[in-house]
Amino acid sequence: MGNVRSEYTDRMGFYGKEDPRALVRRFGSPLYVYNEAILRRRCRDLVGLSSFPGFFVNYSAKANTNPSLLSIIRSEGCVVDAMSPGELFLNRKAGYMPEEITYVCNNVSAGELTDAARQGCLVSVDSLSQLDLFGENVPGGKVMVRFNPGIGAGHSDKVVTGGKKTKFGIDMDKLDDVLALVRRHHLRLAGINQHIGSLFMEAAPYVSAMDVLLDLAERLLALGAPLEVIDFGGGFGIPYHKYEGEERLDIASLGMALHARISAWAQEHGYSGRFFVEPGRYVVAECGLVLGTVLATKSNGMHLFAGTDIGFNVLARPMLYDAFHDVEIYRDNGRPAGSCAEQTIVGDICESGDILARNRMLPLIEQGDVIAMLDAGAYGWVMASCYNSRLRPAEVLIGEDGNARLIRRRETLDDLCSTLAF
Ligand code: LLP
Repeated sequence: MGNVRSEYTDRMGFYGKEDPRALVRRFGSPLYVYNEAILRRRCRDLVGLSSFPGFFVNYSAKANTNPSLLSIIRSEGCVVDAMSPGELFLNRKAGYMPEEITYVCNNVSAGELTDAARQGCLVSVDSLSQLDLFGENVPGGKVMVRFNPGIGAGHSDKVVTGGKKTKFGIDMDKLDDVLALVRRHHLRLAGINQHIGSLFMEAAPYVSAMDVLLDLAERLLALGAPLEVIDFGGGFGIPYHKYEGEERLDIASLGMALHARISAWAQEHGYSGRFFVEPGRYVVAECGLVLGTVLATKSNGMHLFAGTDIGFNVLARPMLYDAFHDVEIYRDNGRPAGSCAEQTIVGDICESGDILARNRMLPLIEQGDVIAMLDAGAYGWVMASCYNSRLRPAEVLIGEDGNARLIRRRETLDDLCSTLAF
């Protein structure tokens, strides 16, 4: 083995007893690879935020719904959310019981609301009209209401979910309307939640938004609302710039701020319900990467390109959000790395926006190299598509014994026809 750039995964022991090139030979390319030990470590970081008995990590399953990962996350003591019938189904497949699932949805049908409630999940609605619809269909039921704290944060405008410009949550100043609907349909207002956006690296906006929700909870308790769950949302960031030594989110100080607030608040208000945080990315991003193969290299004018089989159908984040994922390069035969040059790594999709990594100063990439796009465990496979009628990749998990096993097979051409009627 003559890996050209692998210090990060070497340091983490990411591949256990396996080797990335051998994994690609065995399972094909492109390939999502996950590491169980890292997944467990990230769950433990979050579960350890607070020792308050009513504190729970409500893993946001939209980041990755592979049931093999979900069952590990469950075994670490996390509960889970779902935002579609598919996520609910997969959570159940992984062993989650309905009472461990909150259904945090947006603009859904009466059937979807009713089904989630009938299964026994606590359903969160995020507009007055959805609250009314829920009440008409599940009169007397338990409901959770998502408020918009007016504070937003996130790595891209596309993922900021708090603040007036976004479609999410109910304005805090519509509380009277919420309460009127709750009364009209004899609902039990059992939970409140919020989510300010995705990927913050500084705890301050999250902690300020917590205070906003706790103030609201105080008003609701005073009005006699039977609150059981106060859910502060997710958004916990991870350092994507691994090779620049980007600092991690300071989980210890976030934990101190969170623990101090919730334990004092619960004591002051005699609250014996639960508090949730709802992270997705933090749990799964770093335990996953996607391997691909360099199939062509070229220069167009001054620009060097490495062409791979990781199109934006496989990893959509760079194309969608200009998101940064760090790159590793693996090569056989012990050939040393050549000189460094600015290169752009692209995929095999028929669009010029199909760019994985733009103008990166890296050792010269060669045809036949295997590359890894790091930190692809969150919003990676789940956002993959069959665009250009390409097949979605397989997923393997490196267990704590260091061995890899298949946790999702690669799609086949027959899968492309499986829903056709012709
Ligand atoms: N709770 C709610 C209500 C959410 O909408 C989300 C994410 C989360 C929790 C989890 O957020 P996280 O902890 O993962 O930041 N596809 C984008 C991210 C979209 C996030 C959508 N909502 C990306 O790849 O960056």
